[in-house]
Amino acid sequence: MTAGYRALGTAAALLALGLTSMNAQPPGDVQKAVDAAYEKFKTLKEGKNADYIPALAKVDPNLFGIAVVTADGKVYTAGDVKTEVSIQSISKVFTMAQVIQEQGLESVEKQIGVDATGARFNSIIAVEAVRTVVGSGAPEMNPLVNPGAISATSMVRGSNADEVWKKIIGFHNDAAGRQLTVLQDVYKSESDTNQRNQAIGALMLAYGYIKNNWQQAVDLYTRQCSIGVNARDLAMMGATLAGGGKNPVSGKQVMDAAKVPGVLAVMATAGLYDDSGKWLYHTGLPAKSGVGGGIVAVSPGKFGIAVISPPLDDAGNSVRAQRAITDISNALGGNPYAARK
Ligand code: DON
Repeated sequence: MTAGYRALGTAAALLALGLTSMNAQPPGDVQKAVDAAYEKFKTLKEGKNADYIPALAKVDPNLFGIAVVTADGKVYTAGDVKTEVSIQSISKVFTMAQVIQEQGLESVEKQIGVDATGARFNSIIAVEAVRTVVGSGAPEMNPLVNPGAISATSMVRGSNADEVWKKIIGFHNDAAGRQLTVLQDVYKSESDTNQRNQAIGALMLAYGYIKNNWQQAVDLYTRQCSIGVNARDLAMMGATLAGGGKNPVSGKQVMDAAKVPGVLAVMATAGLYDDSGKWLYHTGLPAKSGVGGGIVAVSPGKFGIAVISPPLDDAGNSVRAQRAITDISNALGGNPYAARK
C-alpha cells in the first residue's frame, strides 16, 4: 500500500467512526468563531417575540446565548447560556426520537409520515390536504409540525399520563445530561390558550393518526413544550445526536446510533418549517427551532450548536439564532454536504 492510499484509508476509517476534523479543530478556533458571532449579532434587533402564547411575550428579547458542544464533549459558549426559555417545538425532535427508539423507524413513518408539509407549523389546511392517504401506509405529514407532533406524543407507550410523561422528560434529561423542569408559567399560559392545538388533536383522532385519548396527548405535548432549557442544554442535546445518540459528557447512550439518521433527516426537511429549504441551502444542517427563541442544529459526527434569542421572523424562527449558527457552522466547516478537507 502506498503512503497516499494509507492516508486515504486512515481518513476513511476516521470518517466511518465519525471522527472528523472537528475533533482536531484547535479549541481556540471554535471559541473565536463563537465569540465573533456573538459580537456581530449582539446588537441586532430584528424580529419579535412570539405572543400567541402570552407568557412568551414577556421573555426578555435581549436574551442572547450561544453554545457549541463537540461530539467529544468540549463546550464553548458566549453570552447568556444559563437563563432558561421554554423549549417549545424543539421538544418535538426528542419525543419523535423517543418513539423511534422505542418502536422503530417504521413506526413514525407509517403512523405519521416523514414528509414536509410546506405549511406553517400549526396548519390545519395541511392536515386536510394529506388526509386521503392516511391508512395507505405513507401519510404525508411529519412529527415536527403540530399535528404530527401531537400524534407522536400520543404514541409514547404508558398506561397513564404520569408514566408517559416520565418517559418524555426522561429522554429530554438524558439528551441534555441534567434534570430539566417544566416552566409552570409557560405551561399554564399555553394550556389556557391552546384551543387550536386541541382542535388539531381532535382532528388527528378523527383521521386515525391518534388512536385514543387525544386530550392527554395535547396536554402532554403542551407540557413538553414548556420544558425549560438554556443554550448549553440545547447544544448538549444536539451533540447527543451529533455523536450517534450518545451524550458526549455523561457517556449515556440515549438512543441507538442506527436510528439517529432518521431523526436528523426529518430535522433537515422540516425543522425550520416552511423555511427549512432555505435554511438547508445555507447551512446543510439538520436543525429545529422553537417559538421560545431557541434553535438547535447538528453537524453529524462533529458538534451540536444552539442559540437562544427570542425575537422571531415571520416563519417563527429566531432571527439571531439563524444568523449566528450559520456563521459559526460555516466557519467550522460544519456543512455535511461540503467536501471534507
Ligand atoms: O404548539 C405550539 O404552538 C407551541 N407549543 C410550539 C410551536 C413552536 O415552537 C413552533 N416553532 N417554531
